[in-house]
Amino acid sequence: MEDTRHRLVRSLTPAKFRTGTQLGAILGLSRAAIHKHVQALVERGLPIHRVPGRGYRLADGVVLLDERAITSRLSPRARALLGGIKILEEVDSTNAELLRTMESHPMNCRVCLAEKQTAGRGRRGRRWLASPYRDLMMSIGIEYPQWPERLPSLGLVTGLTMIKALECFGAQGLMLKWPNDVLHEFKKLCGVLLDVTGEAHGPCRVIVGIGLNVSMSSNQSWSIGQDWVDLATITGQAVNRNAIAAQALNLLLPVFQSFPSDGFDPYLSDWRRVDALKSRAVTIHAADGTMIDGTAAGIDESGRLWVTRDHGAVTAFSQGDVTVRVR
Ligand code: BTN
Repeated sequence: MEDTRHRLVRSLTPAKFRTGTQLGAILGLSRAAIHKHVQALVERGLPIHRVPGRGYRLADGVVLLDERAITSRLSPRARALLGGIKILEEVDSTNAELLRTMESHPMNCRVCLAEKQTAGRGRRGRRWLASPYRDLMMSIGIEYPQWPERLPSLGLVTGLTMIKALECFGAQGLMLKWPNDVLHEFKKLCGVLLDVTGEAHGPCRVIVGIGLNVSMSSNQSWSIGQDWVDLATITGQAVNRNAIAAQALNLLLPVFQSFPSDGFDPYLSDWRRVDALKSRAVTIHAADGTMIDGTAAGIDESGRLWVTRDHGAVTAFSQGDVTVRVR
């Protein structure tokens, strides 16, 4: 069933209509079966135009994720590092899927993308909502032979590198809100989730999940519950998700490779350039549930956020959520 739907999706383009009979001939199905599958795909979120007498086509601007379109844009360095790429029509979560795959088939720099997530995960146990076939949901699995020092700062490095990748598509004014939210005018554009498994002092596996709002549907935006923005709005144009995925991999894979020896130091000046919290009044929602008010005072080489408390003491946080306060 999934395979049939996958082949049906791949038989549609925005360029021309195909009738149910034509699609049926391609896939070896009846017109009625095509109609049923189209219905199911529309319910899944695929924007399909249906015109009686003319048939079906993808809505304008819809570009499906495509392995060849991604790998053909990879630099020689990224291609050499890439440990395989899988594109799924639907999955619970690309991070969860990669955790399962890496368990049985460990391989450095394995990549998983999905057109739709049914249980997308955000930081701190939250859900991640994204528009199927419009946004980017991508996870990268990394195998480190030893637990890298300052591993939590890998999330910050990922956020910074995503900013560089998005600047290549004309996005300007992007900022990073500690620890790794990419913002535009204080609206969320991209989030990063790290899942880490392994023994202290032994090998370590990291799944880096990236959720990017590329061209979020207005239906989806109602349920997000926070200010958000998408790349199409920032740049004023449609951006091909395959090109974004490729550029992200071109920059991220070498960075992940050199992270154990480089650490966070080489990224500190980049961080200062895009620090969304610089000198802001903030409330830290710490991992243990406490809330602390203060003024953000930058981060250190471990990626910890320093906060000058309202009574003058200075405290460093390695985890938590930040709300910016209006003074
Ligand atoms: C955040 O809360 O800001 C992190 C969001 C991370 C979402 C991405 S989408 C791809 C990957 N799969 C998931 O289930 N989550 C991450």
